Amino acid sequence: MNFLRLALLATALAGNANGNSAHATASAASASVSSSQVYSDQYGVLQFQNFGFEGYFFNVKSIDSSSNDSCTCEVNRHKPVNFEGPISPLNNEVSVHIRGPINLQKFGYYVADDYTFGQTNGSWSRLAYYDSDSRQADNVTFLGNVGENVTCLGRALDYVDADGVSPASESAVLDNVTLHSNQELVLMSNVTCGDSGFGKDCGVYRDGIPAYHGYYGTTKMFLFQFLAPEEDTVSEDTASYNMPAIWLLNAHIPRTAQYPTNANCSCWSSGCGEFDIFEILNTTEALHFYSTIHDYQGTGDIETGLANEGYLERTPDAVMTGGVVFGSDGTATVFLSNSTSFDETISNADLSDWISSVEKADSEHTMMLSSATNTINGAGTLESNWWTLGLLAFMCVL
Ligand SMILES: *[C@@H]1O[C@H](CO)[C@@H](O)[C@H](O)[C@H]1NC(C)=O
Ligand SMILES: *[C@@H]1O[C@H](CO)[C@@H](O)[C@H](O)[C@H]1NC(C)=O
Ligand SMILES: *[C@@H]1O[C@H](CO)[C@@H](O)[C@H](O)[C@H]1NC(C)=O
Ligand SMILES: *[C@@H]1O[C@H](CO)[C@@H](O)[C@H](O)[C@H]1NC(C)=O
Ligand SMILES: *[C@@H]1O[C@H](CO)[C@@H](O)[C@H](O)[C@H]1NC(C)=O
Ligand SMILES: *[C@@H]1O[C@H](CO)[C@@H](O)[C@H](O)[C@H]1NC(C)=O
Ligand SMILES: *[C@@H]1O[C@H](CO)[C@@H](O)[C@H](O)[C@H]1NC(C)=O
Ligand SMILES: *[C@@H]1O[C@H](CO)[C@@H](O)[C@H](O)[C@H]1NC(C)=O
Ligand SMILES: *[C@@H]1O[C@H](CO)[C@@H](O)[C@H](O)[C@H]1NC(C)=O
Repeated sequence: MNFLRLALLATALAGNANGNSAHATASAASASVSSSQVYSDQYGVLQFQNFGFEGYFFNVKSIDSSSNDSCTCEVNRHKPVNFEGPISPLNNEVSVHIRGPINLQKFGYYVADDYTFGQTNGSWSRLAYYDSDSRQADNVTFLGNVGENVTCLGRALDYVDADGVSPASESAVLDNVTLHSNQELVLMSNVTCGDSGFGKDCGVYRDGIPAYHGYYGTTKMFLFQFLAPEEDTVSEDTASYNMPAIWLLNAHIPRTAQYPTNANCSCWSSGCGEFDIFEILNTTEALHFYSTIHDYQGTGDIETGLANEGYLERTPDAVMTGGVVFGSDGTATVFLSNSTSFDETISNADLSDWISSVEKADSEHTMMLSSATNTINGAGTLESNWWTLGLLAFMCVL
């Protein structure tokens, strides 16, 4: 999803940014080992366990986008945002991202007080819902990176029209449209942000954008009904050709810059969090949906992230339904199950049935994440890394 140009910078930063990486014993689970030669295996369910750790990231402190020449940002290294506990840092508010070729038909966001994988009592409440058929959109704002383009930030977040790609002057409900390769949508709640400012409800965000809160919660679930047809419209030279994806970002990221050329314009490279739910990574494996966490839990390489080795099957001719469940027990469970429904209340008995039906049919791939602590005491090492980052960025400019 990210930033080709940032890859180098982020890797340089990550190289030592995580005091913990030496102890990274990512006890990757059972099954298959992926290499460029050997495909991983197909599963019905992909799961991460022990997701969440004690760490911190740096939020953007200032953005100067008044001109292309002076365009720059600063992160606040003196006031790190500390996080800990299950699902952190993805327990922060998140935005939902969709990349074509995808025809999004339904979306649901749910919360529960707590959830332990496999539990069959209790239920989930729907707090946001979209249905392309009835054109119902409750608590969903459709946005895209379709606004003004400034060098360090890329294009600004703005409302999109019902076609999902044209800028709009106000919030519109998405039609039943198929996004093409490389076209992206951003879904946020309909709760508007207060003023931009460090430490304010939405932090610092880019001037002039429609700023909305993401979807909160540790124990949260996102469900999708979608078609991911083979690309048949745009040229094969298009970036991310035939690589549909659905993912979550820390909601700060799109409000500052999703694709910046300056890493200080986003909290991404300092590890505020990305969770790839269903992602096609290349056209060689165009039918394999992978799931990846991008943060510093037991790894220093945020660009590669923590990739679940298994994959789910993309069926280009059949509608897919499924999503991700984040539990208070530190599990993140990704599934595609034709039993999935989008009711206002979903019982854990039903959820458990949906998941176990595909688990039985196609087994489950579990990845146990290593326990990690990455507190600000490691900041001494970070200083030198921000320096490296700056140097590299300077070299890029040259
Ligand atoms: C495609 O992505 C998979 C999963 O990351 C990887 O194993 C494989 O090497 C990639 N293939 C190519 C040709 O890049
Ligand atoms: C920056 O450059 C882009 C691309 O050339 C242009 O579209 C945009 O208007 C410029 N922005 C400013 C603030 O000058
Ligand atoms: C589910 O059952 C467990 C074990 O009996 C209990 O501790 C928990 O409170 C119940 N949860 C709900 C939401 O009813
Ligand atoms: C929405 O569009 C898709 C793709 O063109 C189509 O298969 C589906 O039937 C449409 N849904 C409705 C409700 O018209
Ligand atoms: C946000 O969505 C909820 C649920 O659909 C609705 O009740 C509320 O009026 C919406 N608020 C705004 C400001 O649009
Ligand atoms: C933004 O403008 C820059 C030139 O300043 C250009 O390289 C880049 O492709 C543009 N980005 C988009 C998304 O249009
Ligand atoms: C909409 O989603 C937001 C963000 O998670 C949540 O705080 C709010 O309660 C939701 N609104 C409704 C009406 O459920
Ligand atoms: C869902 O149903 C479609 C159409 O019948 C089928 O092709 C697909 O394999 C099923 N998916 C799962 C995950 O069972
Ligand atoms: C990012 O900020 C650090 C200081 O926090 C600075 O050293 C570095 O040069 C900045 N990077 C860029 C690309 O501006």
